[in-house]
Amino acid sequence: MGSNLFWHQQDVTKRARQLLHGHKSFVIWFTGLSGSGKSTIANKLDRSLYRKGISTYILDGDNIRIGLNNDLTFSQEDRAENIRRVGEVARLFVDAGIIVLATFVSPYRADREYVRKLMNKTEFIEVYVKCKMDTLKARDPKGLYKKAMNGEIENFTGISDPYEVPEKPDIVVDTSMMSASVCVKQIENFLFNNGYLK
Ligand code: ADX
Repeated sequence: MGSNLFWHQQDVTKRARQLLHGHKSFVIWFTGLSGSGKSTIANKLDRSLYRKGISTYILDGDNIRIGLNNDLTFSQEDRAENIRRVGEVARLFVDAGIIVLATFVSPYRADREYVRKLMNKTEFIEVYVKCKMDTLKARDPKGLYKKAMNGEIENFTGISDPYEVPEKPDIVVDTSMMSASVCVKQIENFLFNNGYLK
């Protein structure tokens, strides 16, 4: 497969597109259990960056599974395929000069590392959205933990399926201890202090 395909080099480069947008482009990858706050934090961060004139886009687990990846289940193989496809989409966005906020449970280290390797070294920022299981069960905004504990959902991450905690995340935000606004501030500080944004 692919042996009769040839990569077309485009005249307008990633660097040129970044200059047009006025900032670098990269992926902020939010990983964590369902209900930990990934989408809430990404959404707030997105709004804050948008107000600063920065070009961003959110790739959200639930939304992508409703559309592009609606053929995939939650088996380990399908989760890997979910993350592989999203990684490729994220790479296209980065090539287009846009900052991607990707919010996926992405429970397997190997899948997350796969995406990291698709990008240049400085283009992938892993944010571990940490939250205590007791808090998740108490919040349960989608009622999924209740269902999973009753055995109504199979392979539910954190209940009947594993979650591999990131070993060396770039940022850890703890949503059982901090408000979403404080988490957003923490991520923004990281971006400014590490030269991602000026
Ligand atoms: S991933 O594991 O493949 O990265 P993804 O982030 O796309 O997962 O989708 C997770 C979302 O799907 C959760 O936020 C939840 O709403 C829903 N969901 C439905 N079934 C499951 C399940 N078995 N495990 C985890 N999330 C599930």
